[in-house]
Amino acid sequence: MENASKPLLRALGGEAVWPPPFWLMRQAGRYLPEYRALRAQAGDFISLCTNPELAAEVTLQPLRRYGMDGAILFSDILMLPWAMGQGLRYAEGEGPLLEPIRDAEAFSRLNPEKVRENIAPILETVARVRAGLAQEAPKTALIGFAGSPFTVACYMVEGKGGGDFAHARRMAYADPQLFGKLIRLLVDSTVDYLVAQAEAGAEALMLFDSWAGLLSPAQFRRWSIEPTNAIVRGIRKHFPTIPLIGFPRLAGPLLVEYAQRTGVGTVGMDTAMDPRWAAANVPSNIGLQGNLDPQALVAGGMALEAEARSVLAAMRGRPFVFNLGHGIVPPTPPEHVAALARVIRIG
Ligand code: CP3
Repeated sequence: MENASKPLLRALGGEAVWPPPFWLMRQAGRYLPEYRALRAQAGDFISLCTNPELAAEVTLQPLRRYGMDGAILFSDILMLPWAMGQGLRYAEGEGPLLEPIRDAEAFSRLNPEKVRENIAPILETVARVRAGLAQEAPKTALIGFAGSPFTVACYMVEGKGGGDFAHARRMAYADPQLFGKLIRLLVDSTVDYLVAQAEAGAEALMLFDSWAGLLSPAQFRRWSIEPTNAIVRGIRKHFPTIPLIGFPRLAGPLLVEYAQRTGVGTVGMDTAMDPRWAAANVPSNIGLQGNLDPQALVAGGMALEAEARSVLAAMRGRPFVFNLGHGIVPPTPPEHVAALARVIRIG
């Protein structure tokens, strides 16, 4: 079986592989000069995400330098609302800007029937990357992904990031019917989208719930755990055993309930999570992924090495995938990523 030769798939399947496999959130991106060159060639970010040839190339770039065990599809969590027809642009230095959806009328303008057609280039990127890996990096597994419904809804309602998504969180209390409709639409379209990525060649799937930590415990159960569980059940009808990773960022102790109740096999730890606490409290049949501070990677040197070693020490003996606690940031010196890879490979 192919799984047997891919360390990431073995770890996500529940094996305590050591040294652990690794990949890094945002491993393709602006810290790499070769990314910046291709990005300039593509023009804007959405054009890059919908150009299969360039997006596949960008996905493979970090692997050529560092030999990660996982390749993550180059795309964005907001390509799903974009595919439904919500206006989206990425403004230089400002992040994503969307036409906010704050009422039933704006909601009714979304066009989920268009998703299949609009995501076709992204699925072609998946197929191209998978073929590229077979050629260039046969032990590296391809990870497909989507945003979780709550996090995607945050951007859809707010229209931008950078704050605490007050409009979105308020809508969840003030108009749970409309917010619930949006979440259900996202659950259904995310199942379709992730199943399509798996059909196109993704070997594991990850759900990014970057803003789950903004929710009260009751709201966390309702808008993060329950929709994630619905997505897991939907995917399992088509792919009963594909590895699934859930990342409820800043969930704190609710990470345990998330691990117990969503059905994902592996949970991501954010930077603020103590890996020793997670090792002691997350059920031992659930894998862990994380959680080096991206700023330690910018700093480099002894601080990077010490921090990476303490994550490794906490995770020894568990099914574990080394990663960051959040994405690589643009000021990261590429040689620090190489230094980190050497530390991880020693184990
Ligand atoms: O290498 C990879 O990790 C794969 C590609 C990937 C991107 N975004 C590329 C990207 C993935 C998995 C994402 C996920 C994503 N996108 C999340 C969840 C993870 C997290 O960071 O919390 C979120 C919240 C988004 C939404 C988003 N996209 C924001 C807030 C921004 C602007 C901030 C920023 O870092 O620029 C983006 C843009 C974006 N997505 C870039 C990249 C490489 C930068 C675009 C550029 O080249 O200018």
